[in-house]
Amino acid sequence: MFKCTNKTRVLLSLPLVFGVDYSIGFVINYLGFMKILLINIHQLLQIRESDVCYVAGKQMDDLPLLQNAWLLINKDTIEDFGPMQTVPLKATKNIIDCSDRVVMPTYCDSHSHIVYAGDRVDEFVQRLEGKSYQEIAAMGGGILNSAQKLKKTTENQLYQQAAQRLENCAYLGTGALEIKSGYGLNLESELKMLRVAKRLGTKFPVAIKSTFLGAHALPEKYKDRKDEYVRHICKDMIPEVATQNLADYIDVFCEEGYFDLADTEQILSAGAKHGLKGKIHVNQFNIIGGVALGVAMEALSVDHLELLDEEDLSALEGGQTMPVALPGCSLFLDIPFTPARTIIDRGLPLALATDFNPGSAPSGNMNLVISLACMRMKMTPAEAINAATINGAYAMGLATTHGSITRGKKASLIITDPIKDYSHLPYDFGQNHIDQVILNGRIL
Ligand code: NIG
Ligand code: FE
Repeated sequence: MFKCTNKTRVLLSLPLVFGVDYSIGFVINYLGFMKILLINIHQLLQIRESDVCYVAGKQMDDLPLLQNAWLLINKDTIEDFGPMQTVPLKATKNIIDCSDRVVMPTYCDSHSHIVYAGDRVDEFVQRLEGKSYQEIAAMGGGILNSAQKLKKTTENQLYQQAAQRLENCAYLGTGALEIKSGYGLNLESELKMLRVAKRLGTKFPVAIKSTFLGAHALPEKYKDRKDEYVRHICKDMIPEVATQNLADYIDVFCEEGYFDLADTEQILSAGAKHGLKGKIHVNQFNIIGGVALGVAMEALSVDHLELLDEEDLSALEGGQTMPVALPGCSLFLDIPFTPARTIIDRGLPLALATDFNPGSAPSGNMNLVISLACMRMKMTPAEAINAATINGAYAMGLATTHGSITRGKKASLIITDPIKDYSHLPYDFGQNHIDQVILNGRIL
């Protein structure tokens, strides 16, 4: 039996010394157990039937759990679970004792830009000295600054940098991640970013979804010719991305000074023709009607929503589009937090994601995200965990395989260190309570 401690992690990792691709910096237990049994689980969180694909309104404050439970992993799948009185001790010799620990599904981070080159720490310092995010962007910084850096970075270097970030996220409990392009801003560089995202998905046991975000900013080359760039995105870039099967979704930065409603509609329509559903950036700095448009065009999610009005709320009520809040961005840019209480109290669902990117949220830590959601958006711990797991899975099209403890779903699990209750995850903000992560039945 393995005790769930750091020492155990080392023991389990020893056989890895042989045959592991250290260039990706990712250590997985390849012992190849067919079955692993987790026993004495203090709280087994987020237990759902397979027909629950998201939770909304009052349901968000309900986090179904079993006290003193077991869970059996078979290959990459959750085979079964139950109360300790029924533990099937004969199922396997590979047993992990989870006494005093919480076991829950890994986080589903449905919005990130982790494929980027270098950093923008200089802009961070400029903002501390008084410049705003928009002022820095207007001076050629911001997204265009990242685009320049990306151009000078080889595909391999880009992969190495992103792989390091992804590895850190995985150890912090992220088991599914959406990754956007959008720092290429020309066909060649956008394809480069998307290829890196795809490669991450093949090398890591984290479930990856890719989103084409050619409309992230207007590239220098198209200055004062926005319509031409939008046409280029629709006529050349989207078909090529689709032909090469490099994206699952399409995104637009629908915002004053970036892409307006007409641009957004054009790009989402072009994407839809190639089977790409929308996941759009809206209402970060201004309200220009992007939420209603996104819902009308059956976007999978509308993300940011730091600002929200009555028209946005009623549009959301009429659709299947998941609102997504990005509290790390609000914290980092010192802008309003998404009004989660208004959204949830209206009976709507809400997902939480990191927005991990070099300019507005350089952190991929979902534990921090749920702490911020409680402290600054007044969500309860149960609401925050629902938003970061089952609702996050929905917002990235993975609700049938991830986001809950459900028989038949992927065995992607977090095992915490000893804690009295799951509320300690957001409460002890800044403290890492994650002791072990299991991804697709493999122990990190
Ligand atoms: O989601 N708002 C647009 N895109 C990113 C920021 C990109 C950047 O600053 O590099 C976001 O916040
Ligand atoms: Fe973003």
